[in-house]
Amino acid sequence: MNSDRKKRVYVETYGCQMNLADSEIVQSLLDTDGFEMSPLMEEADVLLVNTCAIRENAEQRIYGRLGEFKRLKQLNPDIVVGVLGCMAERLRTKLVEEHARGVGQIVDIIVGPDEYRKVPALIQKAWNGEKGVAVQLSRVETYDDIMPLRTEGKSAWLSVMRGCDKFCTFCVVPFTRGRERSRSLSTIVEEVETLSKRGFREVTLLGQNVNSYRDGSSDFSDLMRAVAGVDRLMRIRFTTSHPQDMSEKLIGTIAETPNICKYIHLPVQSGSDRILELMNRTYTTAHYLGLVEMIRRNIPGVTLSTDIISGFPTESEEDHRDTLALIERVKYDGMYTFKYSPRENTPSFKMGDDVPDEVKARRVNEVVALAKIQAEEINRRYVGTTGEILLEGESKKSPDEWQGRTDGNKMVIVPKRDFSAGAYVNVRFTRSSAATLFGEAA
Ligand code: 5AD
Ligand code: SF4
Repeated sequence: MNSDRKKRVYVETYGCQMNLADSEIVQSLLDTDGFEMSPLMEEADVLLVNTCAIRENAEQRIYGRLGEFKRLKQLNPDIVVGVLGCMAERLRTKLVEEHARGVGQIVDIIVGPDEYRKVPALIQKAWNGEKGVAVQLSRVETYDDIMPLRTEGKSAWLSVMRGCDKFCTFCVVPFTRGRERSRSLSTIVEEVETLSKRGFREVTLLGQNVNSYRDGSSDFSDLMRAVAGVDRLMRIRFTTSHPQDMSEKLIGTIAETPNICKYIHLPVQSGSDRILELMNRTYTTAHYLGLVEMIRRNIPGVTLSTDIISGFPTESEEDHRDTLALIERVKYDGMYTFKYSPRENTPSFKMGDDVPDEVKARRVNEVVALAKIQAEEINRRYVGTTGEILLEGESKKSPDEWQGRTDGNKMVIVPKRDFSAGAYVNVRFTRSSAATLFGEAA
């Protein structure tokens, strides 16, 4: 191996957008340390996987990928393999134990979400034959001083806070990402200024509970106002919001600020008050419906999406019907649905997992079917109207078409013309489905 050339790092990311943003932080740290990023795992000296632990099936997929890394490492034993993120935090040294599904022995470094500054040094140590584990959680780490290594594009992720203090009983996040802490408003605004100068047209502010952001006397609403003021041609999005922190002030700011997108992801999880209580969600369905009403009254044309978990411990057919009834009332533009997955050490783990898998699957299917009917109905109303989209690039399905998004986050497909990514285009919508609008430049 030519020792003069920079060592190449291949990074693969699973899970939520926070993880995508974290991988950009890790890559920035490695870049500063003299490593080079490689899009090809076959050419890399270091293989990193940034992992998710939210549900069991997320972890299964990652074991599968480690099997693939194992194949490469058998060909070249000098390769360093690192497991980063939530699964590293949750399993710690269990990941390197021999029985870790036949892949434990190939893992050299294990790094949790608050210890990424150590990644470059741990890789060096691994080359000296030392396995490294860094999984301390922090109350202060926000990587506020690190400019993420982003590929050029039009859309950027930007973490504004980390961790979660809500302790929903099903959720592993407070244990894998630690307690809530926020970055400073001024460095976030500076980062957005840089993105604007580099030609980014959209920024999504991220946090596990983004709307509980707090920096001294500034709250999330103040942050949104400041960020939106940097460049009025830049769209500002945010995710994920907890209903408990969805203040009237924040709703007002979204309503009044033209370049804050009128799209809110507001996870409800269940439509049964009994289940919400067991989940420790801290609101009732009545409160949630009141919020939705206030949001719709103040933000005309707002789009809404949600998360639903089916098969939480003790969930009965009646609880499930309550969830369908809530969905029926709200009418969501989009939905993410999950089968309950018991996570060790979370409070609900002790409640058992008494809803059989086939019942969970059937309930999820019923939720998905209802969501689809509603989204189709909502999207049909766009046909014949016009709206502005931000062009993202070529459609994934056809080289003759472009894809873009409305302010409300609806995917739009238009025939190709001489536009470029990052352009705002007025579109007349001609056709729709549950997930997509089709149109032509007006
Ligand atoms: N089982 C199933 N879904 C879960 N989520 C979080 N924890 C679990 C779990 N143990 C879902 C919630 C959350 C989304 C990110 O993942 O709906 O909002
Ligand atoms: Fe998990 Fe609840 Fe925190 Fe979301 S709000 S990350 S579901 S504990």
